[in-house]
Amino acid sequence: MRLIFLGPPGAGKGTQAKVISKKFNYPHISTGDILRESVKNNSPVGRQAKGYMDRGELVPDEIVTRIVVERLGRPDASAGFILDGFPRTKKQAVELDKEFKKAGIGIDYAIYFETSEPVVISRLSGRRVCEKCGLNYHITNIRPKKENTCDACGGALFQREDDKVETIKKRLNVYKNQTADLIDYYKDKGVLETVSGDLSVEEVFKALSVLFNKRINDRS
Ligand code: AP5
Repeated sequence: MRLIFLGPPGAGKGTQAKVISKKFNYPHISTGDILRESVKNNSPVGRQAKGYMDRGELVPDEIVTRIVVERLGRPDASAGFILDGFPRTKKQAVELDKEFKKAGIGIDYAIYFETSEPVVISRLSGRRVCEKCGLNYHITNIRPKKENTCDACGGALFQREDDKVETIKKRLNVYKNQTADLIDYYKDKGVLETVSGDLSVEEVFKALSVLFNKRINDRS
């Protein structure tokens, strides 16, 4: 299956993408994760992207699109993928469509995680991330067994620079102004499905599984 996860920051796109990726064996392609890795490695892309990311602004379309096109061309993405956090602008969506057209493929679903603003703010301001393996926690919703320590690898947990309240508000504005229109873009293409991002991790996963299993059964 070829999937696009859409929705505001903090909607739970990355959390679900990780679970779905494991269950259905599709690569989870998160532009945010790829960019953060580039910043960590101080690569040329990372140096270009860092300022935009810290300010909660979008990295220029050309940089992000190049990364995604390269990633989608790898063999593990040939049978399906989950695009998390891309596209984020109309220009990115149009470029993605061009690539799909060249490859003769289409997407199965664009899934919109419809999530209310107070939920997003509380999730992002409480998020903590493992510095070693990148696993996400939350100070009240998803707590590690040992304070500030990752359950999976023992790494220390930290707060993302763009998860400070002022930057969260900026990211929400950027989402409203530059990304929210993509909901209609994919609705017009007939591939949009909506799930409530306000539900618990397990409930959202259940809703997604129903959707995907239906598609898989329809095909067989
Ligand atoms: P990115 O990393 O994509 O950030 P984002 O979209 O702002 O996504 P988040 O990771 O904040 O939200 P999410 O929906 O994945 O939520 P998550 O599952 O993590 O992008 C960062 C930056 O990179 C951008 O600002 C931009 O600068 C740049 N960038 C990236 N892509 C770009 C593009 N295409 N174009 C240009 N620039 C780009 O969950 C959040 C928290 O909530 C976690 O603590 C989690 O544990 C918790 N949680 C999740 N689900 C639930 C639930 N159901 N119930 C309770 N808690 C939950």
